[in-house]
Amino acid sequence: MKDWLRDLLVDPVERQPLSFAEGRLVARNGAYYPVVEGIPVLLPADLPPTHRGAMRTVKLVSMARQGLPIDLIDAVNLREALKEQIRREVAAGSDAAEAVIRRLVPLSNGFGYRDLAPGDAIPVPRFPERGGGESLLDIGSSWGRWTIAAARAGFRAVGLDPMLGPLMAAKRFAANNGVDVDYICGDARCLPFADAAFDRTFSYSTLQHFSDQDCAVALGEIARMLGPDGLSTVQMANWAGVRSLWHQARRGFRAPARFEVRYRSLPQMLSMFSAAIGPTTARSIVSSAWGCRRPTPAICGRRRGWPAPSPSNSSGWPRRFRRCDREPTACSCTRPSNRAEMIAQP
Ligand SMILES: C[S@@+](CC[C@H](N)C(=O)[O-])C[C@H]1O[C@@H](n2cnc3c(N)ncnc32)[C@H](O)[C@@H]1O
Repeated sequence: MKDWLRDLLVDPVERQPLSFAEGRLVARNGAYYPVVEGIPVLLPADLPPTHRGAMRTVKLVSMARQGLPIDLIDAVNLREALKEQIRREVAAGSDAAEAVIRRLVPLSNGFGYRDLAPGDAIPVPRFPERGGGESLLDIGSSWGRWTIAAARAGFRAVGLDPMLGPLMAAKRFAANNGVDVDYICGDARCLPFADAAFDRTFSYSTLQHFSDQDCAVALGEIARMLGPDGLSTVQMANWAGVRSLWHQARRGFRAPARFEVRYRSLPQMLSMFSAAIGPTTARSIVSSAWGCRRPTPAICGRRRGWPAPSPSNSSGWPRRFRRCDREPTACSCTRPSNRAEMIAQP
């Protein structure tokens, strides 16, 4: 971990500086936090998780404390049948981190990606803007697609997520691809960093899963992270989008439970963000699958080595375009879109 980042870490409960001793982080009150495969785990023990999958982190930490080895494939929350497939793929020569990420992609990034096959390149998007060395915290990073995208765009990027398994895959994947990023296992509601630690915060498809109460706490934490010139960018579902309405209709417009998406209206989001952070603007984010614009390869920063169309591709589009098709991008489209990007400044 880089020195600048280590200096910013605090105990997530007391917000006091941490010292590093014997491979772990020690709080002033004597509590200690493990570092697993180079990832500090800074989760408060008594905070109920927003996603029950984070409970696995507790088990992994306890294994790490006992000095037991942690198997990457076991560490992720996937069905046993999927894990068996991954093991077979790895036995056939695939990289374990990539094999795990190929299974995480459809779960964390939308079912537009569900046909990723062994050997397919991992779809890393292009970050929507260029950075000039500013520090950026990607909240709810999972396997790190936006963390990597931000680092490639010139930010000093740090990914944060409460699920240790995906972060382990993220760290190995970034290292294998020569991308300089750090990952912290933590919770958006008690970020383990000092006040004004970051120039930028970014979060995609994460706060939309939080209850209003958890969302307000997380937004308060984002505000705390940013200095006076800071900027927060958060993508969330928009209540009024056609696909959003379809999803809500499918669940009978009932109140969301557990980690289900909360569909909020733009005025509701604007008021939450401006109350917690400061002046906020909203932009439409359009997935071209809904026809606002034709797909362009530039949207997703396509890398060399994208797979050739496969027999499973029956849409008529070359497969690489179908993937790009699902990459959302900011757009000046005025029709109600499924996603909104909230840009807030303290
Ligand atoms: C739909 S995924 C989005 C992942 C990533 N942002 C992306 O776009 O690829 C939601 C992520 O939020 C993470 N998450 C769940 N609860 C969280 C919390 N309390 N704090 C931070 N992240 C959380 C999940 O572990 C998951 O990785």
